[in-house]
Amino acid sequence: MFAKETYVQRRAQLKKNVGSGVLLFLGNEEQGLNYEDNAFLYRQDSTFLYYFGISTPSLAAIIDIDNDREIIFGDELSIDYIVWMGVQPTLRDKSESVGITDVRPAAKLADYLHEAIQKGQTIHYLPPYRAEHRIKLNEWLGLPIARQEGSVPFIRGVVAQRNYKTAEEIEEIERACNVTADMHIAAIKAVRPGLYEYEVSAEIERVAHANGCTLSFPTIATINGQTLHNHVHHNLVKEGDLFLIDAGAELPSGYCGDMSSTVPATKFTTRQREVYEIQNAMHLESVKALRPGIPYMEVYDLSARVLVEGMKSLGLMKGNAEDAVREGAHALFYPHGLGHMMGLDVHDMENFGEVWVGYNGQPKSTQFGRKSQRLAIPLEPGFVFTVEPGIYFIPELIDLWKGEKKFADFINYDKVEEYRHFGGIRNEEDYLVTADGARRLGKKIPLTPEEVEAIR
Ligand code: GLY
Ligand code: MN
Repeated sequence: MFAKETYVQRRAQLKKNVGSGVLLFLGNEEQGLNYEDNAFLYRQDSTFLYYFGISTPSLAAIIDIDNDREIIFGDELSIDYIVWMGVQPTLRDKSESVGITDVRPAAKLADYLHEAIQKGQTIHYLPPYRAEHRIKLNEWLGLPIARQEGSVPFIRGVVAQRNYKTAEEIEEIERACNVTADMHIAAIKAVRPGLYEYEVSAEIERVAHANGCTLSFPTIATINGQTLHNHVHHNLVKEGDLFLIDAGAELPSGYCGDMSSTVPATKFTTRQREVYEIQNAMHLESVKALRPGIPYMEVYDLSARVLVEGMKSLGLMKGNAEDAVREGAHALFYPHGLGHMMGLDVHDMENFGEVWVGYNGQPKSTQFGRKSQRLAIPLEPGFVFTVEPGIYFIPELIDLWKGEKKFADFINYDKVEEYRHFGGIRNEEDYLVTADGARRLGKKIPLTPEEVEAIR
């Protein structure tokens, strides 16, 4: 948690950004795994954390801009809770530590909202991503569950702050990135034939927990890296496998890291090294291009052109790289985006909809591959985001496109067949845009084939 002034200033700025109405912030509830008291790991809503800093379940807050009021709604701990779960500072003390003196019982929130509606005030809310929030919005505001799209002025007001990381946030993110790098370095050293994927995953979690962190998302630790978000961990690592790791740490403050690395079970084969070098060139060329003003979609296009040129050199693709990328042929091997904003969420503010975070309200492409690019707008100082190009051979996608003769002018399907069981490669680092360029956040993880092999 930051100093009180940080939260006071953030709320003051948000009031200016939105201008009028009542801003409703829904904190997260505990989620029962199989009964109420056996809950999933608790995670407060990131926007609630950003403006109110309190990671306690069952809170809500309002900023009534029209009447200049800031109120936290929640209940003090019952004696039953204290007996079973332990004592904590009171809600009043926690609220005062972030500059809020008006604390009211949770049950009073519905009345406050009803009165505000009757007085003709606009209630602004953010797009809900949890079922209980949808139910509350339905009960309190009378909004049908299927039509709870959120308030655009509120979304824009929050994005205008959270997209620009301050010095104290960058310090937190860098701490999360350092732990994330240590998780990767430990995992890269651990991978070897005869180990199960879950043993590598356990090493990743060990390092996170040993540093007082949790995971910022479920770990990917797999010999089947061609499946982009593969959470299966039961396979045995064999000689010749490529092992893809995508994992990140989350600090108690909520700030995240997110990195990926790909390592051979022992040493790269010639074929693995050739494809790895192409992926590495995509990564390094992208990083070289980072600077204020460059649209991140341009950097994505650049990474895709580097891929096409590399695939041409191996005989897997043909034709003009720019045309291939414009038409989307590269997406057979690179079906995701180059990166995403990162901060309190590993995909920062993705719950608002990417058009508001990475596209400034402009519509997204629907083209396969390009539609997964989550950040398109020109980079600005203070943006923190990932650089994570990848190359994959996905048998089901190859079969589908080959059957349709899709992009036959650009893809040599006969040659692609030789790589059918190659797997996937992704490397990922986290960057901050500075006044005149960009800098990596966190320790360096091995990136080139030589660096990967050197630490094994
Ligand atoms: N690291 C997981 C993701 O970016 O989706
Ligand atoms: Mn990522």
